[in-house]
Amino acid sequence: SLRHPSTYSNKIQFENSEDEYADVDWDKLGFGLTPTDYMYVMRCSKDDNFKEGRLSRYANIEISPSAGVLNYGQGIYEGTKANRTEDGRILLFRPDQNATRMMHGAERMCMPSPSIQQFVDAVKETVFANKRWIPPPGKGSLYVRPLLVGTGPILGLAPAPEYTFLVYASPVRNYFKEGTAPLNLYIDEEFVRASPGGAGGVKTITNYAPVLKAIARAKDRGFSDVLYLDAVNRKYLEEVSSCNIFIVKGNRISTPAISGTILQGITRKSILEIARDHGYQVEERAIPVDDLGDADEVFCTGTAVGVAPVGSITHRNRRIEFKTESSLVWKELYTTLVGLQTGRIEDKKGWTVEI
Ligand code: COI
Repeated sequence: SLRHPSTYSNKIQFENSEDEYADVDWDKLGFGLTPTDYMYVMRCSKDDNFKEGRLSRYANIEISPSAGVLNYGQGIYEGTKANRTEDGRILLFRPDQNATRMMHGAERMCMPSPSIQQFVDAVKETVFANKRWIPPPGKGSLYVRPLLVGTGPILGLAPAPEYTFLVYASPVRNYFKEGTAPLNLYIDEEFVRASPGGAGGVKTITNYAPVLKAIARAKDRGFSDVLYLDAVNRKYLEEVSSCNIFIVKGNRISTPAISGTILQGITRKSILEIARDHGYQVEERAIPVDDLGDADEVFCTGTAVGVAPVGSITHRNRRIEFKTESSLVWKELYTTLVGLQTGRIEDKKGWTVEI
């Protein structure tokens, strides 16, 4: 159970905590960073376990120039959201899933990891301390960003001697500048996101900077983002830079199977389950790019992105268009997911955590 912030071990002074809301223009939120009041920090050395962390004011951190994360990219991150309900509660969505994913990622990247309990408690404490930054119902979410990075100094290529687990938060609304309008994706065959044997399946920071150039090129050409194909055959759909992808054909909903190169999205997994509950035939499989030709709908899922309809995908100068009206499958699944996340739909799955 969550202690009130005034009882935290480090006894920091909570300023402004009596105000219900921070001074934010809630109607102008996108996915830009709005710094909040507090962050959570916990450190641990290489052969130890994480023990105790603490909240502190959100501020710059000091880091060695030879930190493992700065030199060799030894770092992973997570993303999860807190929402306010109409009746004034605060809900987290499946934070245990983020905790588990961080543990797997840490193992892949040779780092110690916080336990599931430590992770979830840190997320709860960070959200509670930054409560006034959670947007009003219907205006967005508090995006929570846990990081696990090698902060100890190292020169040769080896695991860093010390690690920092840090959690910060920012209020957000729509991820894409398109808002809720359909996305126009671009398949740029010059770039791949991940290859077999690599680390595409875990949320390492090293999966993200390399796609910046692909995204920039797509944006220059007027597209929203890039859809990557598999590295070996350049034939099967993988994912978009910041989200997973689904295709709909009749009653059948398909998404690329988890193969080690695709991020195991928590929204992806939740949407698969909701789709099954709603009677759709759900498949995780290899999806050839040619299947786009007769798809009725395409949509993307992610914590930051939510569920976003795709209006078109351009591949080798061919623009394939999809239905995006709000009476469609993507909207039905989206409404159910957001309903659960914001408390409008009763959670019979035990996915939400009230703080
Ligand atoms: C998320 O959806 O939470 C992510 O971590 C993707 C990131 C590119 C914003």
